[in-house]
Amino acid sequence: MAEAKPLPTLRGKVALVTGASRGIGAAAAIRLAQGGAAVVVNYHQNRAAAQKVLDAVEAAGAQGMICQADVRDKSQIDALVKAANAKLGAIDVLVNNAYFPFQVSPLHEISWEKFHEAIDHELSAFYHCVQACLPDMKDKKAGKIIVVSTRLAQQPLPRMGAYAAAKSALESMANTMAIELGPLGIAVNVVTPAFTLTDASLIMPEAFRERVKETRPLKKHLYPEDIAGAIAFLAGEEASMLTGSHILITGGSHLQL
Ligand SMILES: NC(=O)c1ccc[n+]([C@@H]2O[C@H](COP(=O)([O-])OP(=O)(O)OC[C@H]3O[C@@H](n4cnc5c(N)ncnc54)[C@H](OP(=O)(O)O)[C@@H]3O)[C@@H](O)[C@H]2O)c1
Repeated sequence: MAEAKPLPTLRGKVALVTGASRGIGAAAAIRLAQGGAAVVVNYHQNRAAAQKVLDAVEAAGAQGMICQADVRDKSQIDALVKAANAKLGAIDVLVNNAYFPFQVSPLHEISWEKFHEAIDHELSAFYHCVQACLPDMKDKKAGKIIVVSTRLAQQPLPRMGAYAAAKSALESMANTMAIELGPLGIAVNVVTPAFTLTDASLIMPEAFRERVKETRPLKKHLYPEDIAGAIAFLAGEEASMLTGSHILITGGSHLQL
């Protein structure tokens, strides 16, 4: 029998999770720490929540830090990455997760300014985070970029068009980057959650949430931890031949009409 190999681990890796004070980002930060990664917990306004996530990261035996930055702003991202480098080292794993509220309206009723804003927030945050992390990833000839998209990018719902368009464009950027950065040793993958119970999803009424659950083949709510597992998988060695992949996390609802 072949000698058993130790389980792959994220020990020695540094992960930056944007929007990690709550929801999917918080669960991802904790899950990556459980895998052994040092984690930069980015937050925007909610320092106390970010501190609780850091406490959980450290309770998992990992190093970490909280870092305030509005990831739509290049200078704040650059400062965040500099601070992370100084404290934890170069970033190996970027989880592009922060959530930007958008106008919930039919597309034809949204002003160009509000529509453009939704696209700009989503794409500028990703663009600048990647730019800030790339030099070190290129030097190491290794890196993992994980994009949190949404099922709505491919399976639209009325009134969510600004968000869906922004996330579709984000997925398109990720696909192109997968081709361009692959030869440099950098993988770019997408997780595509369906409706997940977080603060962001509370904009939808209770009856909607229950209906979503009941129409899923698995008949369960999706929780942030369900998405975090896929993110940790993509960050690790077991996903070494995945790039340009999109992991659907829907409880099976993508098969339903
Ligand atoms: N929930 C769903 O149903 C669902 C489904 C599919 C995809 N997604 C995607 O999953 C990701 C996370 O969503 P979520 O539901 O977990 O959101 P959430 O619970 O509302 O949390 C949002 C997070 O984003 C941070 N954030 C907001 N603006 C920011 C900014 N300008 N700079 C840095 N951080 C910022 C918040 O920080 P503070 O708390 O510090 O302000 C918070 O940590 C998003 O990309 C979203 O599109 C969500």
